[in-house]
Amino acid sequence: MTRWEHDCAGCCGRWRCFFQKVYMHWVLLVVALGLLLFWDASFYQGCSEDSRCGGLISRHVANDLLRDGEHEHNLASLQNVQEVLSQQRESSKKAIYKDSPSAIGINPLLSVIQAAVAFNESVLLLMNPPFTGLRNALQEEIHQLRCLFAKGVQTDAVMVEDGMVQCKHPQNAMRKSVTGSVVTLKFDSSILPATALYGKIGWKKLVYGVSPLEDDRDILLFVKGLSHSKRSLLPDGLECLYGDNVRTQVTAFCQENVRCKLPARRIQHEVNGKSVTIVLRDKIFPSVVRFSLGTTHFDTHTVVVEETQRPFFLCVCSLVWNGAKFLKEWIMYHSSLGAQRFFLYDNNSDDDIENVLESLRSYNVSRHPWPWLKTQEASFSHCAVRASSQCKWVAFIDLDEFIFPKGFVHTKVSEVIEPPLHCLIKEYDRVDKGKLGQLKISNFNFGPSGLRILPKSGQMVNYICRMSVPKRVKSIVRASAIHPSYCSRVHYFELKAGYVAAQAVRRDAVIHHFKYHAWEDFKLKFVRRAATFVTDWGQNKDLDSFDRTPGLGTQAVEPLDWAHQFCEIEDTSLRDYVMNTSNFYLAGKLLWE
Ligand SMILES: *[C@@H]1O[C@H](CO)[C@@H](O)[C@H](O)[C@H]1NC(C)=O
Ligand SMILES: *[C@@H]1O[C@H](CO)[C@@H](O)[C@H](O)[C@H]1NC(C)=O
Ligand SMILES: *[C@@H]1O[C@H](CO)[C@@H](O)[C@H](O)[C@H]1NC(C)=O
Ligand SMILES: *[C@@H]1O[C@H](CO)[C@@H](O)[C@H](O)[C@H]1NC(C)=O
Repeated sequence: MTRWEHDCAGCCGRWRCFFQKVYMHWVLLVVALGLLLFWDASFYQGCSEDSRCGGLISRHVANDLLRDGEHEHNLASLQNVQEVLSQQRESSKKAIYKDSPSAIGINPLLSVIQAAVAFNESVLLLMNPPFTGLRNALQEEIHQLRCLFAKGVQTDAVMVEDGMVQCKHPQNAMRKSVTGSVVTLKFDSSILPATALYGKIGWKKLVYGVSPLEDDRDILLFVKGLSHSKRSLLPDGLECLYGDNVRTQVTAFCQENVRCKLPARRIQHEVNGKSVTIVLRDKIFPSVVRFSLGTTHFDTHTVVVEETQRPFFLCVCSLVWNGAKFLKEWIMYHSSLGAQRFFLYDNNSDDDIENVLESLRSYNVSRHPWPWLKTQEASFSHCAVRASSQCKWVAFIDLDEFIFPKGFVHTKVSEVIEPPLHCLIKEYDRVDKGKLGQLKISNFNFGPSGLRILPKSGQMVNYICRMSVPKRVKSIVRASAIHPSYCSRVHYFELKAGYVAAQAVRRDAVIHHFKYHAWEDFKLKFVRRAATFVTDWGQNKDLDSFDRTPGLGTQAVEPLDWAHQFCEIEDTSLRDYVMNTSNFYLAGKLLWE
């Protein structure tokens, strides 16, 4: 047992524990100088409870494995971290041996609030550098974190991630008078240094994300408020801007994804640490993205990851919110059918998703905070870039969707046969002579199937009544076939020339979409989505109209006979497969029971 582990297990308040880990974290960082900081919350999972500290090392190792070859990156993390690190390293060392954070004269959080993005409902503070372990340390005690505006105005923090904190707005009466002044975080008696001004950046026009692309000397910027028409045509006069005056060319564009050339190498140092943004006909977009030299991504060599060198044949990307209850079944099922790696983009979950993920560690699941509103396409694009270095194929499905490759499953699973999902993809790729770019699969919506409460045995064996006609498709996409702009249309991707899309016949594969859950579960989703339902109702008539739920108003009141709605055809095919497949059982129970 290392000293850290010992101290952690042996002591102490969680803050002490937290600080020891923090110290270890700095050591790691120093060793791996020039590394990116990760946004993920998962690093020191063990630390939120004293008694769990002992598991630190093994989890840590598991995490490293998971990260191997993975390039985590995000806007806030791309700042010129080294400088900040070296400044803070010294002070953090001093902090370690103090007894309690309130006793130390410096900031316990060791990070700078660099930008504040105002949404309608909340304001998002972005930290630099992101602080690994912060979410775990503070999630349960978020009330200790206060958002501090000018004139002593304080509000509650409502969400904490390693690189960001979401705060309530000040009350209307105060709002005007604090607008334009610094906003920051307060913990205990410590106040974080901040350069962020409240009300300066809104969620209307913003460059909010970046993915360095490894197969080229390009980056992909994620922009809010760029496209009003959903066209892929490059707007006139669109350029990329590094710092104040280095402009580069847009090399691909789609919706709100802008692919930019990097500046010429000899001038990159001039824009190091400066913002990266876009210019549209001489209008400069606000941006929270910084350019950073010396990270793997902006460095001199580029790594081309050949399809054949990627460790995973099939990965899954999903945008999730509070799906903890359903995760186990969904991951175990898809894993057993051939999904080897899961990327969950988490839109502010506040259930116990991390504990569930902890129990699913061996399934290679990672969680990535994604707080940006109405950016489903962008989250898929972002995930596609991330998956591209590891995965040959990527399925884009939701937590309530289960791919059922009917034509390729066997109830008697032997070790030697390939996983059914791999067989499905390979078969369609063979038919298309190796040029399959994506496989679309029909999506059937299931109703509550007579249930008011979902039994422990889970969705697949209990939801057995569905609508007769499929709605939409979902796709499994070949990462290397995705268009250079990484253009997602939610249900499919734009492809490079030369690749084709195929649609699986229903005999081969379908998706069971458990869209209308038993009321006990549906109502939870509903409360959160009510606003969305209502705004979508009048506007966006043709956009996602299937998302509207017939017969529902704005209240989470159980509609008459909900349990029997959306039921036209009994379909027990997936239930039969699951019930008869010994792989899904352990000691007479389903794995996820
Ligand atoms: C935010 O507020 C503005 C104006 O009040 C409104 O037009 C917009 O739809 C709101 N956005 C969301 C995501 O609710
Ligand atoms: C998880 O990833 C490793 C490689 O990093 C792989 O060997 C293993 O099979 C994966 N696990 C599952 C359940 O697919
Ligand atoms: C995340 O959830 C909120 C509702 O709280 C919703 O308005 C927003 O659009 C979601 N974000 C994405 C990317 O879907
Ligand atoms: C599988 O199980 C179901 C009961 O769930 C049963 O009716 C069916 O005949 C079984 N066999 C096969 C091959 O599906």
